[in-house]
Amino acid sequence: MVIAIDGPAGAGKSSVARALSEAIGFTYLDSGAMYRCVAFEVLRRDLDPGDSAAATSVAETVQIGFTAGGVSLDGVEAEPLIRAPEVTEAASRVSVHPGVRAALVAEQRRLISEGRYVAEGRDIGTVVSPDSPLKVFLTATPEERARRRAVQTGGDARQILASQNDRDRRDSEREIGALRTAEDAVTVDTTDRTLDQVVDAIAGLARGRGLA
Ligand code: DC
Repeated sequence: MVIAIDGPAGAGKSSVARALSEAIGFTYLDSGAMYRCVAFEVLRRDLDPGDSAAATSVAETVQIGFTAGGVSLDGVEAEPLIRAPEVTEAASRVSVHPGVRAALVAEQRRLISEGRYVAEGRDIGTVVSPDSPLKVFLTATPEERARRRAVQTGGDARQILASQNDRDRRDSEREIGALRTAEDAVTVDTTDRTLDQVVDAIAGLARGRGLA
C-alpha cells in the first residue's frame, strides 16, 4: 500500500515524504532516485541519455536497492553521486523514454506490493498506483522552489529557476507518466508553510482515512 506524494521538483516532496514516513511508521520510497540511478549509469557507460534503446537497456538491467542510508546501484552506494547537476539533467532526459518508465514503474509496483510505503515522484498517484488510498500533490511557486534549491546547493537562484523551468516543461509534456494532478489528489501548497505544518496536515489525512 502506498501514500503517493507527487509534484514538481523543489515543492518539498523529499523532506515531506521522508518525515511523513517516519511520523507514521511507513517505508520511504524515492522514485526520483531510481531515474537518477539509471541516468548515472548511462553517463558512466558513456551512453547518450537521449538514446531510448540504450537507456532502456540500462533501466532493465541495473540493480537498484534501497538501504537505510540511501540508494545503492549494482550493490554500491549511489549517494551523493546521483545528486550531481549533470545527473539531474540526464535524469530528466532518460525519464521521457517509455521503456525506462516501464522498467522502473514495474519495480516500484513490486516494492509497494510488499509493504506500507510513502512514495514520492511525479506519477505515483496517476500511473504507479492509481488505487492509492491517499494521494497528495505538493506545489509551491516556481520562485520559491528555485529559492529553496539555491539555499540547499549554494547556486544562483535565477539560473536554477531557468533550468527548473526546462525540467518542469519536460516533466509535464512527456507522453507517458507526465506530471499531472490525479483527480482524487489533495493539493497542498507548501509556499508559506513549514515542513512540520505540511507533515502534520498529511499525517492527519492519513489517520482520518484509517491508514495510520
Ligand atoms: O525528484 P527528482 O528530482 O529526484 O527526480 C529526478 C528526475 O526523475 C526528474 O527529472 C523527474 C524524473 N522522475 C520521473 O520522471 N518520475 C518519477 N516518478 C520521479 C522522478
